[in-house]
Amino acid sequence: MPNINEYLDQNKGRFEEEFFDLLRIASISADPTYHDDVARAARWVAGQFERLGFPAEIIPTGGHPLVYAESPRVPGAPTALVYGHYDVQPVVPLELWTTPPFEPAVRDGNVFARGASDDKGQMLTHVKSAEAWLAVEGQLPINLKYLIEGEEECGGQGVADFVEKHRDRLACDCVVVSDSSQFGPDRPAITCGLRGIVYAELLLTGPNRDLHSGSFGGAVANPANALARMLAALIDDRGRVQVPGFYDDVVALTDKQREQFASLPFDEAAYLAGIGASALVGEEGFTTLERLWARPTYDVCGMWSGYQGEGAKTVLPSAAGAKLSFRLVPNQDPAKIIEGLRCKLAEVCPPGIRMDLTVHHGGRGVLVSEDSPYTQAAARAVEQAFGAPPVYTREGGSIPVVVLFSELLGVDVLLLGWGQSDDNAHSPNEKFSLADFHRGIKASAQLWEELASCPTKGS
Ligand code: BES
Ligand code: ZN
Repeated sequence: MPNINEYLDQNKGRFEEEFFDLLRIASISADPTYHDDVARAARWVAGQFERLGFPAEIIPTGGHPLVYAESPRVPGAPTALVYGHYDVQPVVPLELWTTPPFEPAVRDGNVFARGASDDKGQMLTHVKSAEAWLAVEGQLPINLKYLIEGEEECGGQGVADFVEKHRDRLACDCVVVSDSSQFGPDRPAITCGLRGIVYAELLLTGPNRDLHSGSFGGAVANPANALARMLAALIDDRGRVQVPGFYDDVVALTDKQREQFASLPFDEAAYLAGIGASALVGEEGFTTLERLWARPTYDVCGMWSGYQGEGAKTVLPSAAGAKLSFRLVPNQDPAKIIEGLRCKLAEVCPPGIRMDLTVHHGGRGVLVSEDSPYTQAAARAVEQAFGAPPVYTREGGSIPVVVLFSELLGVDVLLLGWGQSDDNAHSPNEKFSLADFHRGIKASAQLWEELASCPTKGS
């Protein structure tokens, strides 16, 4: 594809400018303050498709809108459904950003901005690759459908409902998602598994107001003390989650899978150094990659109670709260985990404390094929663009809709991450390598060609 690659090289600067325009939109889906910005990002994405001549629709949901577009029909050719998300995570703590999160800044070949890697830059690679085909060849070698959502970072209920209702419209031969990472610099990867999630919020209330801790301490149930005990009761010293039935449905790793994980060049010392931590801890009996990719976990993502200001204030708080995430693996069922969690928390909730548990979202883990013709096509495309064959990995993060693509549409999902695990997704100073952005576009353009010779169901 020399002509297409030439077009991509000639248009690098403009692609970056357009990418930065999208990065300037503060599309934080979890925070209602940014509602209009999220809508603006949806219109921006739709505008990209309109410019390619793909009729685009902005589809309202109960939450933020979906953007849907289709390329002009190429009869007889396979169809790929591209999924991505234009929403981003919140940006707090703002003071830890070197440059403002919605003012893209280039340093050392990386663009720094919220959403640079997760997922605006990665998603855009599949739009720019289509542009190159149209500009150079006048048409694409396959049919493309695009489904870009605006609430992946806060649970993705709208897209889940849409996929369920519109299976016919979304019919395809494979799904393509770039919303994950390479295994390391110059080590591209095809991701073959994602974890699921249950995200819940626990609120504990005790006395009807904050009390003097001397006058009342020792006589009254303290929600902060109760919270600490309850959260601690959810995990034992060996790193085993203490929710009843938690491990019942977990699919155990096979010896072959363990060997495959172990064969990957994972450098624990570099991993530790990268995050500035002093030790790696987790469930006993498993390696770090096994714990990250194939074992379920429990983490407190936030907790609050009592006096948070300067100096000392002797107060017995009236309430305490925590946000909890459980990462799940195939075949754990989020509904069963939530039920077990409620039982466990009720069992360990001390007298004098009222407990409320709200579930924000849940989704199942998924494994995808490592050896279908579509995966092989993707491997060829990745190798050509990145100059190295991909390794086969899994990721610990979640993209809840992927399991629905796999089950409801009955097709392979190609998880082709162009990011890096140190891109600071969800953290301050999120970045994306511009070299990876351009290689991702090349790989995507090559993928359309490679998929053209794959079997089609005639959708
Ligand atoms: N891009 C991530 C998913 C991901 C994370 C893939 C890490 C590979 C490695 C995605 O945007 C994300 O962060 N998803 C959320 C989903 C949740 C809010 C339902 C996640 O994993 O926390
Ligand atoms: Zn993402």
